[in-house]
Amino acid sequence: MAKFSTLFVFSALAIQVIALPYYRSLAGLSERELEGILPRLNVVTPPPPPPGPSNHTCVKLVNDAAHPFMTLQDGDIRGPCPGLNTLASHGYLPRNGIATPAQIINAVQDGFSMDNGFAILLAYATILVDGNPLTNLMSIGGKSPLTGMDPPQPAIVGGLDTHAVFEGDTSMTRADSFFGDNHSFNQTLFDQFANFSNQFGDGNYNLTAAEEYRFFRIQQSIAENPQFSFISPRFFTAYFESAFPLVFFVDGRQADGQLSMENATSFFRDMQFPDDFHRADGSKTADLVNNAATAIFSAHPMQPGGNNGTVNSYTFDPNSANLTEGCKLYTDFVNNVVVPLYPTPQGALKVNLNANLGFLFSAFPNCTQVFPYGQRGGTGWPFVSVIMDFCVGRIKC
Ligand code: HEM
Ligand SMILES: *[C@@H]1O[C@H](CO)[C@@H](O)[C@H](O)[C@H]1NC(C)=O
Ligand SMILES: *[C@@H]1O[C@H](CO)[C@@H](O)[C@H](O)[C@H]1NC(C)=O
Ligand SMILES: *[C@@H]1O[C@H](CO)[C@@H](O)[C@H](O)[C@H]1NC(C)=O
Ligand SMILES: *[C@@H]1O[C@H](CO)[C@@H](O)[C@H](O)[C@H]1NC(C)=O
Ligand SMILES: *[C@@H]1O[C@H](CO)[C@@H](O)[C@H](O)[C@H]1NC(C)=O
Ligand SMILES: *[C@@H]1O[C@H](CO)[C@@H](O)[C@H](O)[C@H]1NC(C)=O
Ligand SMILES: *[C@@H]1O[C@H](CO)[C@@H](O)[C@H](O)[C@H]1NC(C)=O
Ligand SMILES: *[C@@H]1O[C@H](CO)[C@@H](O)[C@H](O)[C@H]1NC(C)=O
Ligand SMILES: *[C@@H]1O[C@H](CO)[C@@H](O)[C@H](O)[C@H]1NC(C)=O
Repeated sequence: MAKFSTLFVFSALAIQVIALPYYRSLAGLSERELEGILPRLNVVTPPPPPPGPSNHTCVKLVNDAAHPFMTLQDGDIRGPCPGLNTLASHGYLPRNGIATPAQIINAVQDGFSMDNGFAILLAYATILVDGNPLTNLMSIGGKSPLTGMDPPQPAIVGGLDTHAVFEGDTSMTRADSFFGDNHSFNQTLFDQFANFSNQFGDGNYNLTAAEEYRFFRIQQSIAENPQFSFISPRFFTAYFESAFPLVFFVDGRQADGQLSMENATSFFRDMQFPDDFHRADGSKTADLVNNAATAIFSAHPMQPGGNNGTVNSYTFDPNSANLTEGCKLYTDFVNNVVVPLYPTPQGALKVNLNANLGFLFSAFPNCTQVFPYGQRGGTGWPFVSVIMDFCVGRIKC
């Protein structure tokens, strides 16, 4: 508190310093703009990702006294991911929704028994494109208003809501970005999700409902969204996210892949664990997710592609990785998503980007590493050569 009050007696300049949204993504800033911001940031060298400890595998109560649900306070951020939203609302993540990759990995392992390979992949992919690699922080939702910057800074990407890097079209309960709000819970879409669960799962979201609803949402986006885009990485995440509720939102003691609508509502809409919720068995989640995602895809196989500016014009995009091309997913993500955001990083930014790229690569042990910024990143790299159990089902990485 004392530290804060002394800050308040500082000049307008000092106020600008504390007002800089330090978890905002830096991608899209020119070098000149970066030079202006750099001195004002608390630059952190990213530590290696936490390992997946064996004590994270047990089924246990996670909606416990140490992690009570709390309603949102002013300024708390939530976003498109019902898993991360729930973890933040229960204090497994900082409740304000701003976290480091390591905090996210620990939270998804502790709260949901997500396996270490998936957790690393998602957390580092996200900090690279949606986070601030200098402060090592990211928001699980929107960018904040750019207050107090003089001269005013351009509105740039920030947080998981950012479209077309990680957030993408044809979500189950979030509208396509073309229609406006791309990240908030959408009751109409959830009603549709419930309808499919009634029709194909007898009231539960199960694998059959997941297969049909995933395909239906894709058809819906083709028919309604002239800018529908369904290429890697979204092509992958859409199938995996359709599998997540079957594995992670079903009580670990039950573990039958049948998610009731009452419990689905608790996670998707209310961002809250159901009473007495026990997490899944972490030794099984990787296989279960891989198998379910593969089944969801195989029920109605699609080629990656998109509409061309008019509805119903879905065209195959031969440049996108498909689900059997895990290494192309990795390589294209680095070269075609990360590099355009940070074309020529220098100094600490380059060091930290290289560190995070190395951590991301550790989730793809069977692929060949790519080094868009050279192999000599500086002190932050290399850190790990962790052998992950990540592997996309029957898919060769
Ligand atoms: C490890 C870190 C994670 C990151 C960075 C992450 C990020 C995201 C993002 C950006 C989306 C939005 C994609 C879109 O629909 O456009 C999303 C969706 C989703 N996530 Fe996560 N997620 C993580 C872990 C989890 C976990 C542990 C769960 C389940 C417990 C989960 C469940 C879901 C589900 C079900 C959706 C789909 C929502 C929908 O389609 O309506 N995620 N996640
Ligand atoms: C897992 O074990 C480590 C080391 O024994 C301990 O520090 C940590 O608190 C444990 N985590 C959980 C979630 O039990
Ligand atoms: C919810 O999604 C539907 C279908 O995509 C869309 O028409 C509607 O505008 C969305 N509602 C809100 C409040 O964003
Ligand atoms: C995503 O939604 C946010 C909040 O509604 C909006 O500000 C942003 O422009 C959207 N992104 C895109 C690319 O439409
Ligand atoms: C859900 O199904 C009911 C009954 O078949 C129908 O009236 C309603 O329009 C459907 N809702 C959505 C969002 O699809
Ligand atoms: C989903 O539920 C329906 C209705 O109970 C059932 O017929 C179907 O076999 C279930 N699918 C799976 C994969 O459990
Ligand atoms: C909902 O979740 C709770 C807590 O995990 C569980 O005990 C209950 O059986 C679930 N309800 C249904 C209908 O599956
Ligand atoms: C988009 O696709 C439609 C249907 O395939 C086609 O008729 C149209 O010419 C295409 N438009 C552009 C701009 O490529
Ligand atoms: C994925 O693409 C590769 C290379 O183009 C192709 O050989 C393979 O058949 C495709 N797989 C699917 C499922 O479309
Ligand atoms: C990755 O490589 C390891 C060791 O060579 C091998 O055991 C494993 O099956 C490979 N995984 C995939 C998905 O190819």
